[in-house]
Amino acid sequence: MTSFYLSKPYEPPQAPAKLPLGEPWALFGGISPDQFMARYWHKRPLLIRGAIPAFALSAQHGEPLDSPIPTKELLKFALQDEVEARLVKSNPWSFDSGPLSKKAIPSNDKPNWTLLLQGMEAHHPAASKILSWFRFIPDARLDDLMVSIAGVGGGVGPHFDSYDVFLIQMSGRRQWKISEQKDLSLNPNLPLKILRNFKPEQEWTLEPGDMLYLPPHVAHDGIALDAGCQTWSVGFRSPSFKELLQEGLWRLAESLEEIPALENKFADPKQGATHTAEQLPEELIKQLETKLKELKLDQIDGFLPGITAYLSEPKQQALFDAPDKPLRPQEFLRKLGSSRLLPHPQTRILSLGKQVYCNGESMTLGQAPDILLAWQTLSARKELSAGRLKHLDQSSLYEAYLAGWVVFEH
Ligand code: SIN
Ligand code: CO
Repeated sequence: MTSFYLSKPYEPPQAPAKLPLGEPWALFGGISPDQFMARYWHKRPLLIRGAIPAFALSAQHGEPLDSPIPTKELLKFALQDEVEARLVKSNPWSFDSGPLSKKAIPSNDKPNWTLLLQGMEAHHPAASKILSWFRFIPDARLDDLMVSIAGVGGGVGPHFDSYDVFLIQMSGRRQWKISEQKDLSLNPNLPLKILRNFKPEQEWTLEPGDMLYLPPHVAHDGIALDAGCQTWSVGFRSPSFKELLQEGLWRLAESLEEIPALENKFADPKQGATHTAEQLPEELIKQLETKLKELKLDQIDGFLPGITAYLSEPKQQALFDAPDKPLRPQEFLRKLGSSRLLPHPQTRILSLGKQVYCNGESMTLGQAPDILLAWQTLSARKELSAGRLKHLDQSSLYEAYLAGWVVFEH
């Protein structure tokens, strides 16, 4: 077990840009990302002892590691407006969503509470480094990295998520019980989503450096065994078809604004006298059908740009600050020669073929080839360095810089 006084913070490495997909990884218990995806992803749970070998190695050398974020530092995040925080107390169950006041946060030695901090990749570099380990899973699926800290006995209760999640034990021990039970009904009398009938089938105590992968809908309950227990969860979202189709259709509807011919009004010089005046005119139906076919509204190619834009939207509470003293385009180019341009940690970038979408908007439509290439690099590598940009002035890249969506590394 880690000791508070002797331990030092674990410094997670950044994964290489091109992950070796076929090679065995300690992170997955000695199987490769290819094998992990084929055997476990979205299918069955996997417990990995020593997923981060550094913890056990350092302990053997008498230099135990602790979480990259010490308790004291972590608790400060809960007080910040821009961090999505929730406080859950068990016995009796209660729930409080942030921002929290200093007084509201129980002290470390008190039992039966846990604090959940969402979207930590935006607030601490160690969290965003850990996300880089999982970049063999499409960016569109990634939700965020949540850090939980708990007093002894703390947890959110037995529940299930609709998410794939990697639960990494970072400090202290946590007992996990899981069940692939069919009955996922919830207790209606509680302020939290807690299963009515949790029947654990497997049980493990996770030590720092261990990891548990859970696909959606596996019932689970994690209870902190040590004060200051930290679990870092890398969560992957999967939108419903309703959400995808609705969002795609909204955007498709909006894109009709750009077709002036659609301003033309319906005309019915062929309409005859009718006894069924209450019916929608046949002529209107016929002409609409032709229009729908012409516009190819049911074809996937027309649909995907809107979906990609939607999935590239940042989290609701994301805040981007314009740079204090923005560099002029010439200065920007000079700076790019010596430092890397990175997406702001709350920025989302996704690609659809050659097109790039950032924070809900297309960045590449109508842009010069050098700007297009720069965006493609930012999207694929999540960084841009050097590169000759001839058309920076008034480009979407420079605009994104002025909006604080992309930032220079300090
Ligand atoms: C936790 O980290 O405390 C809970 C995460 C979860 O069960 O989803
Ligand atoms: Co959960």
